[in-house]
Amino acid sequence: MNGEELLTTLDKGKKEIHSSSTIENLEELRIKWLGRSGIINKNLETIKNIPADQKKEFGQKVNSVKKEIETLLDTKKNELLQANESEKKIDITLPGTPYPQGSLHIVTYAIEEISHIFERIGFIRMTYPEVEWEFFSFDSLNMPPQHPARDDFETFFIDFPAHKEYGKMVLSPHTSSGQNREMKRLGDPPVRMINIAKCYRPNWDTTHTPMFHQFEGVCIDRDINITQLKGTIDYFAKEFFGKDRETRLRPYHFQFTEPSFEVDITCDVCKGTGKVKKEKCKVCKSGWLELGGAGMMHPNVLRAGGIDPEKYTGWAFGIGVERVIMMKEGLKLDDLRIVYGGDIRFLEQF
Ligand code: DAH
Repeated sequence: MNGEELLTTLDKGKKEIHSSSTIENLEELRIKWLGRSGIINKNLETIKNIPADQKKEFGQKVNSVKKEIETLLDTKKNELLQANESEKKIDITLPGTPYPQGSLHIVTYAIEEISHIFERIGFIRMTYPEVEWEFFSFDSLNMPPQHPARDDFETFFIDFPAHKEYGKMVLSPHTSSGQNREMKRLGDPPVRMINIAKCYRPNWDTTHTPMFHQFEGVCIDRDINITQLKGTIDYFAKEFFGKDRETRLRPYHFQFTEPSFEVDITCDVCKGTGKVKKEKCKVCKSGWLELGGAGMMHPNVLRAGGIDPEKYTGWAFGIGVERVIMMKEGLKLDDLRIVYGGDIRFLEQF
């Protein structure tokens, strides 16, 4: 290659370098020009064949071409690196880096859902004191002073002077404590309340936590009867668990209702048949699972709330929130206490 040819090749090289769009391609060009057997070295090797008086000039030319190529390659490389960087910065189509997101507690979600279900049929959501008087938790509910639920094995008593009228202070052991307060709040029926709240009982084992939740429905008006109670519980069961679920009322005893029932719902596993592949269903053993308690409000309970049982009738039910969550999620917890243990590995699954 003579000096002239070298310059033409340089021109071509410059163009190539300019139009190079990736670092990899640039590296190939560097090898092509500056590599051990690259264009520059090849030209330097030819120096021995050049007439002595032209050697110096040719050598200088090759060196200046080498420098030019080196500078060009360096500049282009910087350009490409910068372009890569700024491309990263301005690509607004890339998904953002997500922030770690918290969530509500599994029980809070269930309470919201239960609340909405009853809101749709006109039940007003109420909450009443967690620290209560005996009167609201027991006496007003037709539970005499010697009733076993009033033992301190069953109820938390607060170390506080007793109220003249309402007796000792307790942690509300059930949402039924709100019944009397709601009747008095309204004065006159109709009453349509859903009370969802914390309840406390001194139990601590694999199926009990000392704090848990219930929801209590109360409906009082003229001519209120069991058919509507059954209809309301059915409605809840279908909304919360699914259209194919059925409920039944099974005779039972509570002080504050007459007649009283336990409410059962068909088991999801055996679909209410009690059998899975001809074997007894391991989950329910009978086709039914217990949901909670219910009944027609006892005349004494209505009277304690200032409502005339000759004019009005009412029903009430009470159901455990943790219980319905487990049934809905198909959760079989070895230990219910994990729900309140605060272990994020459990909580973040909901
Ligand atoms: N208070 C009852 C309990 O905690 C549940 C209950 C049963 C509530 C019957 C009611 C009812 O309103 O009518 O076990």
